[in-house]
Amino acid sequence: MDEAGASVVNPRHYSALDRVCLNLDLLLRAAARTGAMQNRPTPGADLPDPALDGADRRRSAGFMRVNHAGEVCAQALYVGQAVLARDEDTRAALLAAAEEEGDHLFWCEQRLAELEARPSRLDPLWFLGSAAIGAAAALAGDRLSLGFVEETEEQVVRHLDGHLERLAPDDQRSRAIVSAMRADEARHAEEARQRGAAPVPAPLRRVMAWTARLMTTSAYWI
Ligand SMILES: [Fe+2]
Ligand SMILES: [Fe+2]
Repeated sequence: MDEAGASVVNPRHYSALDRVCLNLDLLLRAAARTGAMQNRPTPGADLPDPALDGADRRRSAGFMRVNHAGEVCAQALYVGQAVLARDEDTRAALLAAAEEEGDHLFWCEQRLAELEARPSRLDPLWFLGSAAIGAAAALAGDRLSLGFVEETEEQVVRHLDGHLERLAPDDQRSRAIVSAMRADEARHAEEARQRGAAPVPAPLRRVMAWTARLMTTSAYWI
């Protein structure tokens, strides 16, 4: 502490090996995320949960399985991007968003259990693929990496709007979770814009949309 009582900042210089270990730690924490790491209560937990009829329940389970897989991807993308971000502020912002994606992941997991449904069996594949894509985005530089966040989050907002249109009106708990996630994803896109996101080239936007379609279609069933 200095004379004014403020702590003296002692900037730490990490070796290459330190950085590898810290980054691996980030990835493993994201992969092993549990409810114990939930920061915010589950939206709609106090709402009634009436029994849904067969078709409505299957649709809710399919959508929440897709959303759960999407949150696995979101966490892995953000951590993959943070690991190779060049600017420390950008890295901190990416990790803060990853924390919120962790809440989303837990909310979806909880809702799946309430619906007596399971997560996607392909989750490990989504996680590894997304971490690699996130790292590749970071290699393109922080501004393009933020552009990737902005575009991804905007696509997710449109996807969640589709779920809100099609979820049964009685499934208030799933709707509350999807609405809260939608608000967070829209804010993540806005924050990326404010941090100087560069526009993502149109061909890459199309590849991102096809990849998302492949993931959402398969996670609904598998
Ligand atoms: Fe999310
Ligand atoms: Fe997000």
